[in-house]
Amino acid sequence: MELLQKCTVDGIFKQLFAHKKELIIGNLIALVATMMIVVIPLLIPILVDELLLGKSAYFTEWMGRNVWQTDTQGYVLLTIFLILLLRVLSVFLGIAQSKIFVSISKDIAYKLRCSLLLHLQNVSLKEYEMMRTGAITSKLVTDVETLDSFVSTTISKLIIAVLTLLFSSVVLLWIHWELALFILITNPIVVYFTAKMARNIGVLKKEQNQAVEQFQDALSETLELFGQIRAANKESYFFEQSRAKALTLKHHAVAFDYKSDAALKYSYLVFLSGYEIFRAVSILAVAYSDLSVGMMLAIFSYLWVMVTPTQDMINFQYVLATAKAACGRINALYALEQEKTVVQTHNPFVDVDSVGISVSYLSFAYHSDKPILTDISMQIPSGAKVAIVGASGSGKTTLAHILVGFYAVDEGEIVYGDVSCKSLKLSTIRENVHLILQHPKLFNDTMRFNLTLGKDCSDEAIHKALKIAQLDEVVEGLTHGLDTLIGKDGIKLSGGQRQRVAIARMVLSDPKVVLFDESTSALDVHTEAKLFHDLKAFLSNKTVITIAHRLSTIQDADRIFVLENGELIDSGTPNELLAKENSYFAKMK
Ligand SMILES: Nc1ncnc2c1ncn2[C@@H]1O[C@H](COP(=O)(O)OP(=O)(O)OP(=O)(O)O)[C@@H](O)[C@H]1O
Ligand SMILES: [Mg+2]
Repeated sequence: MELLQKCTVDGIFKQLFAHKKELIIGNLIALVATMMIVVIPLLIPILVDELLLGKSAYFTEWMGRNVWQTDTQGYVLLTIFLILLLRVLSVFLGIAQSKIFVSISKDIAYKLRCSLLLHLQNVSLKEYEMMRTGAITSKLVTDVETLDSFVSTTISKLIIAVLTLLFSSVVLLWIHWELALFILITNPIVVYFTAKMARNIGVLKKEQNQAVEQFQDALSETLELFGQIRAANKESYFFEQSRAKALTLKHHAVAFDYKSDAALKYSYLVFLSGYEIFRAVSILAVAYSDLSVGMMLAIFSYLWVMVTPTQDMINFQYVLATAKAACGRINALYALEQEKTVVQTHNPFVDVDSVGISVSYLSFAYHSDKPILTDISMQIPSGAKVAIVGASGSGKTTLAHILVGFYAVDEGEIVYGDVSCKSLKLSTIRENVHLILQHPKLFNDTMRFNLTLGKDCSDEAIHKALKIAQLDEVVEGLTHGLDTLIGKDGIKLSGGQRQRVAIARMVLSDPKVVLFDESTSALDVHTEAKLFHDLKAFLSNKTVITIAHRLSTIQDADRIFVLENGELIDSGTPNELLAKENSYFAKMK
C-alpha cells in the first residue's frame, strides 16, 4: 500500500487514472448511452416536418426501405417504439456504467481510509495522547465520504454532462449554426458566474464538517466516560455540551444547505432565462430564416436535454470546492507526527532469555518547556530483578513508558543488550519489553480475546497462564468460561481481576523483559504474594523492573532505584537503603 503524505484533488485524480481499464469501459458505455439519448429529440421533429408539413422524406423513406413500409400512423408508432427502445437501452447501459463508476469511487475512498489508518497506526504516542477520537472519526467518515461523492460525481456525471453537451452542440450546429453559437456562448457565462459562488460554498462545507467533528467529539467522550460521568452525577452537564454542539451543527447545516441550494437555484434561474431567450430567438429564426417548425421543436428539445448536464457542470464546481475543503481537513491527520523509522541491523532480543538494560544520561519532556526526567543513569543486568520507587509524580511511569518504547528518547541513550535504542525500532522494543499497566485497558470482547489479543494460543497455554496469574478460579466461575464477554473495558471484572488479566496476557506473550507499573496494587497482600510466588519460575531468567508503592511488593528486589522530581537520587540493595537514614525506601510501608 502506497503511503500518502497529503490528500489533494490532483492526487485523487491520479488515483482515478490508476483505474484506466474500468474508466475506459465505463466511458465507452457512457458514450453509447449518451448518443442514444441525444438522438431521441431529433426523431419526432423529423416526423413533424416529413409527415405533417410534407417537407423532405429522408427518414420515412429510410424506415420504409429498412424497417417497414407503412402509413402515417405506422411511422408514428414505429418512431415511438424506437424512442422507447433507445430509452430502455440507455437505462440499462446507465446502470452498468454506474456500477463500474461506483466501484472505482468506493475503491478510492477505501484506499484513502487505509492510508489514513496506516498513518494513525504509526503516529507517535505524544501526538496520539492529544488526539480527540471524534475529530479523527469524523475525518475518516464524513470527509472521506465527501471525497467519495466528489469522485463518483466527477466520473459519472461530469463525463456524461460534457459528452451530452458536446453531442447536443454538434447537432444544434448542424441544425442552425447561428442559433447554436448563441446558445453555446451563453453556457460558459452561466458557469463563470456560478464558479464565484462555489468558493463560498466550500467554506460553508468546511465549517459544517468542523461542526460535525466537534459534535462527534463531545458525544464520543461523553459515551466513553459515561460511567464516570454518572458517578459524578454530571449527566446533564455533559449531555448539555453535546446538545450545544448539535445546535451549532444545526446552524452550520442550515447555512450550508440553504445557501448551496440558493446558489444552485440562482444558477438555474440564469440558465432558464437564457432558455426563454433561446426559445424566442428560435421562433424568430423560423419566421425570418429557413429553419423548419420541426427543427425548431428539435431545438426546444435539445435545450431541455442540455439542462441536466449544465446543472451538473455547475454542481461540479460546488462538489470540487467541498472536496478541496475535505482534503484540507484530512491533511490535518497526515500532519500528525509519525514514529521515527529506524534502520535496524541487529535485534538484541533474538535467541536470548533476556537482555540487560543500560540507561545513560536520559532526559525527557512531554512538552519542551517542562522537563520530566533529568539525567537518569542506571544499569540493569540481564535477568536482574530491580525496583523503581518514588513519590507520586516523580516520573516512574514516564520512565517505564520510555523503557518499553512508547516514546522516543529525547536526550541520552538506552542500550538493550548491546544495541542502542537509536538503532532499534520502537516496535521491536515493545515486542520484547512488556509493560503491565496499573489500569490495564480491556476490550469489550471475550475473556479469551483479552488474554490472547488475537494470537493463536492453545487452551493449555491459556490455562497455564491463568493459573500463574491466580485467575483460573475466576474464569471457571464465569458463565461461559473463556468465551464469556467481559463488557466495556472489562466492567464485569473487579479491579484486581483486570490487573490479573493483564498479567496472564503478559505470560502468554512471553516477553524478554517485564515491567510491572503498580500492576498488582489492587490485589490484597495475600493474593499478591501468591501471584509473585507462582510467577517466580516464569520470571526467573527474565529481566524484571517493578514499580510499586508497597514495600512488600519489592522487598526481594536485587536493587532499588529511587526517583524524586524526575531525578535518580538514590539506589542500592534493600538492605543498603534500609541502613540509610531518611531513605525513601525505608519509609515505605
Ligand atoms: N502524557 C503526559 N503528557 C504530559 N505530561 C505528563 C504525561 N504523563 C505524565 N505527565 C507528567 O509527568 C510527571 C510524571 O508523571 P508520571 O506518571 O511519570 O509519575 P509517576 O511517578 O508514575 O506517579 P504515580 O506514582 O502517581 O503513578 C507528572 O508531573 C505528570 O503531570
Ligand atoms: Mg505512575
